[in-house]
Amino acid sequence: MSFPQTRLRRLRQTPVLRSLVRETRVHPDQLIMPLFVVGGSAIKRPITSMPGQFNISVDVAVERAQELFENGIRSTLLFAIPDFKDDTGSSSWDMEGIIQQTVRAIKKSVPDMLVVTDLCFCEYTSHGHCGMMHEGKLLNDETLELLVRQTLSHADAGADIVAPSGMIDGCIQAMRGALDDSGFQELPIMAYSAKMSSAFYGPFREAVQSAPQYGDRKTYQMDPANLQEALRETALDIEEGADIVMVKPALPCLDIIRETKNAFQMPLAAYNVSGEYSMIKAAAQAGWIDERKVMLETLLSIKRAGADIIITYFAEDFATLHRRGDIN
Ligand code: PBG
Repeated sequence: MSFPQTRLRRLRQTPVLRSLVRETRVHPDQLIMPLFVVGGSAIKRPITSMPGQFNISVDVAVERAQELFENGIRSTLLFAIPDFKDDTGSSSWDMEGIIQQTVRAIKKSVPDMLVVTDLCFCEYTSHGHCGMMHEGKLLNDETLELLVRQTLSHADAGADIVAPSGMIDGCIQAMRGALDDSGFQELPIMAYSAKMSSAFYGPFREAVQSAPQYGDRKTYQMDPANLQEALRETALDIEEGADIVMVKPALPCLDIIRETKNAFQMPLAAYNVSGEYSMIKAAAQAGWIDERKVMLETLLSIKRAGADIIITYFAEDFATLHRRGDIN
């Protein structure tokens, strides 16, 4: 049947009716809020490139975790900005390192908060690359050994999920094996499976001071042009034992999110990255867009594309609106 028997506008007449037939919903339970932790105490330093986000010390991170939890955001993703950097990123597996301290402190004060830790080396290495380097090249298999140390230290500290973001071949297999051998069979891995070499991470690199000192990340992160390869990356991570897979960034990769959801029966996360966040913030500050509406449409579109979980700097803002019933 077609017009005039069929009129799609019939179901758009009132807010209640529109809500009744709404196909996609975002819920705070499926949002993960990243936090950027530094050394010291009582520090809450604004990140210029990411309005509304802060570098915070461990004590403040505990307060933030409490606030987030009370506001309905029950998952956080931790990044550290260490004071000490060297060639191998050795502060990343220090049991007194920033991540390890923060995980212990949050799990002690807010035990139900789900703490996900990002595992990479770019924040910890003096050269800013995501692994061990030799003559300008990233050494894959040597990096795996260091990654295992980092993984076990996060597990020992009490992380609820470990999430490797370095795009190192074989990382899920190496981590799963080490975790299982050390009594952490129950600890899930969220794999940054299809992570593009993206200019949308720009503001993040200022937040964590992790820009590479030379070269770029194109030999380990993916070419944003490649959909087939994204699916191969994801298939390999699943074979190696990933529990949750991820596509990153989100908005420039909505097609990859959809294809991944169609291809695999897996919980799928999408990372709504710093550039996606800061562009909205900047345009809203200039008065060019309505921040609330653009944020809601952004999260909705990522969900509609097929993501189950969204990692987003908007998590808390969304939860606040959700509680007020102000999300349509
Ligand atoms: C670390 C890492 C990055 C992001 C998450 N983990 C930066 C990068 O790969 O350069 C980006 C997050 C964001 O932009 O919000 N490798």
